Amino acid sequence: MAERLIADVLNQPDAALEMTLRPSLFSEFVGQAKVKERLEITVQAAKQRGEAIDHVLLNGPPGLGKTTLAMIIAKAMGANLKSTSGPTIEKAGDLAGLLTNLEAGEVLFIDEIHRLQKTIEEYLYPAMEDFKLDIIIDQGPNARSVRLNLPRFTLIGATTRSGLLTAPLLTRFAVRERLDYYQAVELQQIVLRSSRLLNIEIEPSGAMEIARRSRGTPRIANNLLRRVRDYAQVKADGRITPAVADKALAMLEIDQNGLDEMDKRILESIIVKFGGGPVGISSLAVAVGEEPDTLEEVYEPYLIMEGYLKRTPQGRVATELSYRKLGIKAAEEKPGKQSDLF
Ligand SMILES: Nc1ncnc2c1ncn2[C@@H]1O[C@H](COP(=O)(O)OP(=O)(O)OP(=O)(O)O)[C@@H](O)[C@H]1O
Ligand SMILES: [Mg+2]
Repeated sequence: MAERLIADVLNQPDAALEMTLRPSLFSEFVGQAKVKERLEITVQAAKQRGEAIDHVLLNGPPGLGKTTLAMIIAKAMGANLKSTSGPTIEKAGDLAGLLTNLEAGEVLFIDEIHRLQKTIEEYLYPAMEDFKLDIIIDQGPNARSVRLNLPRFTLIGATTRSGLLTAPLLTRFAVRERLDYYQAVELQQIVLRSSRLLNIEIEPSGAMEIARRSRGTPRIANNLLRRVRDYAQVKADGRITPAVADKALAMLEIDQNGLDEMDKRILESIIVKFGGGPVGISSLAVAVGEEPDTLEEVYEPYLIMEGYLKRTPQGRVATELSYRKLGIKAAEEKPGKQSDLF
C-alpha cells in the first residue's frame, strides 16, 4: 500500500539491509558534523585516560542514525555493546540481570529508552550515577535491600521522544546529542555510498533525485534506492538516471518534496475537515486512520520542519504552504478578526 510506505520503512526497518549499509566508523558516518565532532572528542579523551565514556543520550526522529552512532561509539572505544530496548525490559529483575552481567568498560545500549517503565527507570539512577544497584531480595517480612557494586559501564540511550524522559533520567546523561534531518547533499553521498555497497549503477544526479525526496532521512533514502533500482532494472536498462528515479518515485506516490499519500491526507484533513486547525493530535489521528504516536514521531516532525504544519498550544494548524501544496484556497479572513478592529 503506497500510502503507508514511509511509516512502514521507518517503523519496520529491513534488518539485513541495515546491517549491510550501516557505517561502522565515524569517518564513514555522513553529516551531523557537530554531533560527530563532539562525540569523537569524548571518545578520544576517554580512551587517552583509559576510562569508560560518560553516559550518552541520542535523540531524534526515526532512521537518522542513533543506533548506528551507538555502535560506532562502542567500536571506537574498543568496547563490547550489549543491546536492549525500553519495552523489552518488563521487570526490575530484567534490568538487574543486564546490569550485573556487564563487564567494566562495556556499553549497554537501551533503545526507545522513553518507553522504560518508571518503576524500572528508578533502578537506573544509582546504577548510572554511583554504579550501584539496590535490589530487594526475599519477600514479606524477610524482604531486604541489598546493594551490589556494578562495573564502570557506559549507558547509551536512544529515543525519538526525549520530551517523554523524566528530568532525573535526562540529567544523568552527561552527553546529550540531538540528530537532525540531513541535507539533500549529505543524503546524496549516503545514496552513492549505498549504491557502491549494493553494486547499483547510478548517476550522481540520480542519487540527488532520491536524496531530495527522502525526507532528510538516511533509512528512507536507502530504502527508496532499492525500490528505484528495481524499477530501473525492469523498466529501463538498470542504470539510475534522474528521469528513471523520478518515474520510480512517482510510481511509489512520493512527490517532488518527498511527501507521500499519508502526508497529504494529514494536511487535507486539517484543512478540509478541521477548517485549517487548530486540531488535537488524537482527533487528527482518527480522521486519517493512523496511530497518534506514528503521526507524532514519523509524520509531524518533518511536516513541521518543512513549514507545512505548526504546532500551537491549541493543536496543529495548517500553514499557507499546505494550502498551496494541495491547491486549496485559504478561507477569506473571517469578519470579527483583527482587520475589523481598525
Ligand atoms: N550518517 C549516516 N551515514 C550513512 N548511513 C547512515 C547514516 N545514518 C544512518 N544511516 C543509515 O540509515 C539506517 C538507519 O539508521 P539507524 O538505524 O541508526 O537509525 P535510528 O536513528 O536508530 O532509527 P530508529 O529511531 O528507528 O531506531 C542505517 O542502517 C544506516 O544504513
Ligand atoms: Mg535505532
